[in-house]
Amino acid sequence: MSSPVTAAEKDPPYKIAVAGLGTVGCGVVEILQKHEGLLARRTDRPIEIVAVSARSKGKDRGVDLSAYKWMDDPQALTADPDIDCVVELIGGSEGVAYDLVKAALNAGKDVVTANKALLAHHGDELARLAEDKGGALAYEAAVAGGIPIIKTLREGFAANRISGLHGILNGTCNYILTEMRESGRSFDAVLKDAQDLGYAEADPTFDIDGIDAAHKLAILTALAFGVRIDFERVRVSGIRHVSDVDIAFAEEFGYRIKLLGVARQLEDGTLLQSVEPCLVPRHSAVGAIDGAFNAVFTEGDFVGPGAMVGLGAGRGPTASAVVADLVDLCMGQKRPVFSVPAKNLTPADYADSAAVSGHFYLRLSVLDKPGVIADVSAILRDCRISIEALMQRGRDPGQQVPVVMITHDARQADLARACEQMAALSTVLEPPRLFRIEKIASL
Ligand code: HSE
Repeated sequence: MSSPVTAAEKDPPYKIAVAGLGTVGCGVVEILQKHEGLLARRTDRPIEIVAVSARSKGKDRGVDLSAYKWMDDPQALTADPDIDCVVELIGGSEGVAYDLVKAALNAGKDVVTANKALLAHHGDELARLAEDKGGALAYEAAVAGGIPIIKTLREGFAANRISGLHGILNGTCNYILTEMRESGRSFDAVLKDAQDLGYAEADPTFDIDGIDAAHKLAILTALAFGVRIDFERVRVSGIRHVSDVDIAFAEEFGYRIKLLGVARQLEDGTLLQSVEPCLVPRHSAVGAIDGAFNAVFTEGDFVGPGAMVGLGAGRGPTASAVVADLVDLCMGQKRPVFSVPAKNLTPADYADSAAVSGHFYLRLSVLDKPGVIADVSAILRDCRISIEALMQRGRDPGQQVPVVMITHDARQADLARACEQMAALSTVLEPPRLFRIEKIASL
C-alpha cells in the first residue's frame, strides 16, 4: 500500500520573477493570483512569484505587489539563487531585455518571454545558450498572443513535415484593413481612429510597416521548418500603400486584402518567407478573419490543413500565453526552443523573386485615351504575362482612370519588370500597384 505523500515529498514551488510590469506583466500577476488554486491543481506544484522588477516602484498598477521582493535592477534577478525562472516582459530587441535574458540563461534559469523582436534578432544565439546551460526559453506569448501556435507547431504537429503556413499576425493592420473595407475610408483616416482607440501605437511604424508581423513570422518559420531564425531574410512590405481603391476593386474580383505572413516551400525547394499585403479569396477562411483577430493557417503532410484563430494582443490573451508556458515549465516540460535542438537547426535557402510565381492583382492609373491599353498589353506580352481578367472603370477622356488586371500564373520577377516598364509610359500616371494573390490549401 502506498503511503500518503507528505508535504516534504512534494515538489517545491516553482519560483518566478517578473521583469516588466506593464499591461502584460500585470496581467500575468493577476492570473497567477486569481487562479492560484486552479493552477496548483493542474500542476500539483505551486507557481510562486518571489520578485518583481520595473522602472517605477511607486506607480499604482491595480495589482497587489506587496508580497514580492522589489528589484530596481532586473539584472539582480539573475543572481538570485531562489529564482527558477525569469519572466521577461520589458520588450525591445536590445539593451535591458537582451542583457537580462542572456544573463538569466547563463545562470541556468528558465526564461519566459513575450518578446518577438528579441527572438527574431537573437533567437539562434539564445536558443543555443538555453540548451547549453540547461534552461528553457519559452515564448508562446511572442506570436499571435492567445493562439497557442508555438505549442501546436512544436508539439501537436511534431509528426509532420510542414509545407507552409500563412498568418494574419498583426491585429492593428487587420483592424485597419477591415475598417477601410467596411467604411470605404482612407488608410490615414482609419489609422487615426485606430490610434484614438488604442489599437495602434502613437508611433505605429512597427505595426503598419509589417515589422511586428515579420518578427513573428521569422519565429514561426524557424519552428515550422527547423531552420535558423533569419529575420533579415523576411521580405517585408506593410500596408501604407494599400488604398481604399484597391480594397474596393479586390472585393469586386472576389478577394480581400490581408497583411499576410507567408512561410512556404516553393516548387524549387526554396523557402518563401514574406510579410506583405496579399489578396485572398473573399469566401475563404482567411478572408473571413476580420477586425483585430489573428489567425494562423498550417499545412502538414499527415495532419492536412489546419487553422487557429484568436486575439493576438492585449493583456488577457498575452498574459494567458505567458502563464501557459509557466505551467509547462513548472511541470518540467522542456522542449528544444525551435522544435529541433539548436545544433540541428539548418540555414534555409530562401526564395528570390524569380522563384515566386502566382496570380497577381495589378492596378494602373492611366490617361483615358486611345492606345493606352495596347501599350500596356505589349509590355505584358513581352514580359510573358497573361491576363485572366481586366476592368476599366469610368469614362473620362483625357483624365485619369484606373485599370485593374488579374494575371494568370506569372513570375513575380516578370511582373516587377513589367511594372517598371509601365511606370515609364507617359500615359501611366502613378506607380503601378501590385499585390500577390495567395490561395491557401482547401481552407
Ligand atoms: N501590435 C501588435 C498587433 C500586437 O497589433 O497585433 C503585439 O505584437
